[in-house]
Amino acid sequence: MAQQNPSNQTDLLFYKDADTFFRTNAEIGLTYDDITLATRYSEILPRLTKVDTRLSDRLSLNIPLISSDMDTVTESEMAAAMARNGGLGVIHYNMTEKQQIREVAKVKNDVHGLIQDPVAVSAESYIGDVLEMIEMRGFKFHTFPVVDLENRFMGLLRGRVVKSRYRNVKVVDAMTPLEDVYTIHESEIADDPIGRADKFFNEHMGIHKLIVLNDEGLLKGLFTMSDIERIREEESAEVRPARDADFRLVCAAAISATRTKAGELDRERILGHAGALVDEGVDALAVSTAHGHSAGVGDMVKLLRSEFKDLTIIAGNVTSAEGVEYLAKCGADSIKVGQGPGSICTTRIVAGVGIPQLTALYVCGLAAKQNGVRIIADGGVTKSGDIVKALTLADAVMSGGLYAGCREAPGSLMEINGKLYKQYRGMGSHGAMKSGSAARYGHDKVSQKTSKVAAEGIEALKEVSGSLDDTLRELVGGLQSGMGYLGAKDLAELRQRARYIRISPASQKESSPHDVVEVKTTSE
Ligand code: XMP
Repeated sequence: MAQQNPSNQTDLLFYKDADTFFRTNAEIGLTYDDITLATRYSEILPRLTKVDTRLSDRLSLNIPLISSDMDTVTESEMAAAMARNGGLGVIHYNMTEKQQIREVAKVKNDVHGLIQDPVAVSAESYIGDVLEMIEMRGFKFHTFPVVDLENRFMGLLRGRVVKSRYRNVKVVDAMTPLEDVYTIHESEIADDPIGRADKFFNEHMGIHKLIVLNDEGLLKGLFTMSDIERIREEESAEVRPARDADFRLVCAAAISATRTKAGELDRERILGHAGALVDEGVDALAVSTAHGHSAGVGDMVKLLRSEFKDLTIIAGNVTSAEGVEYLAKCGADSIKVGQGPGSICTTRIVAGVGIPQLTALYVCGLAAKQNGVRIIADGGVTKSGDIVKALTLADAVMSGGLYAGCREAPGSLMEINGKLYKQYRGMGSHGAMKSGSAARYGHDKVSQKTSKVAAEGIEALKEVSGSLDDTLRELVGGLQSGMGYLGAKDLAELRQRARYIRISPASQKESSPHDVVEVKTTSE
């Protein structure tokens, strides 16, 4: 609560809380570089601040950062790396449905605690069939439980025999039979599955797999030692991965509002695809479009919500309170805010619409509170200070440009004048729309011959920036410094304690390094 002393009154006159500040500035759209945050009394050490957040009651993250569903930013490698660092990646949809399901599966299969529904192979199949399945579904592992038609466990097909030279051998003849495999009854692991598995591997040197069975001998799960070791290491690590209830990394996917020839939502196809993603364990689906406050997006959210009651649904993008309310009522949990702030966006130039990002976040944040949903600040962030500012109003921050230069982003490296670059393009650029994202911008599929629709994004290059781990370490470090300056121990306090002031162009200059010759910008 504000203390009524004269010094505090002086501060209040200049450094305003969000409600006072944005209402006083209602006649002008503001963005990150238009403001700065005032420091507050602090007893908080930056490294002890907590930066966890929620996108819904079912999905929480350990850092409030999300990588964009863009075809030059997030595929499985980026999504897994984001989740390993505590954040979330949203896999783009400029690929076939089958490929997208496979990308999600790769993230969800990265590390498991207990694999409750392990991929099993039939005793009657051949090693050649198993090799084909591995290739088709992109599995990194080669050891499989073997089951009969009733899912009764029969043995273990070990990686060492899953080789092309044995492709004509039947699985039943190549497997290690049940009696030579370590198994455990499901009742024994009920309370503490990871602890129990850890103990088992300690006591059984050289054994790397433990099979879980029920009374009838049906396959109920699988532990692998390497996964248990990684999970144990994480418990003492500074960076805590974002995991689901089964210890799998979290992963989201964007989903397209596919239409029939008659222009209706193709319910069957959409639900089939969404269902397959849910079966792989996807933690959230994102209905990502340039104009979320529209009937098409609303219908899509309603369709998903009607079928998947517990699924976290992200929808957007909007920049108005009405837009937030509309998507919340349709069933979205988290709403993406941002029209035109992105580094590769030209929506404001091409269509003349969009709202500067900080004002949009404040307006949408008010509606989010009233409607019990969360908001994600999407686009326009270029430095960690922008993340601090965004999180004074939003629950999480989505970015493309910050991560597109990392080695985990899709796309190959190119060298220009001795410097390494990666491609980064807007999903509304001609190139990306040709690859499938036209619907996101309200256009039919763009044909190869004609490209008359107006692009709302550009195709660009990002200088290669090393690993995502390093990038996130810098960004989260900056966020925590900001929280220390504001005396905020967590993101809820950051929102409460933020005090804003507008800055002049001269102060912007003052805010960056100036009047020196810069020789080093990072901690390397
Ligand atoms: P940053 O600034 O993080 O922005 O690079 C990424 C966000 O920009 C949005 N996006 C686009 N917006 N035209 C637009 O107007 C586009 O072609 C485009 N592609 C992506 C998207 O919200 C993303 O997360």
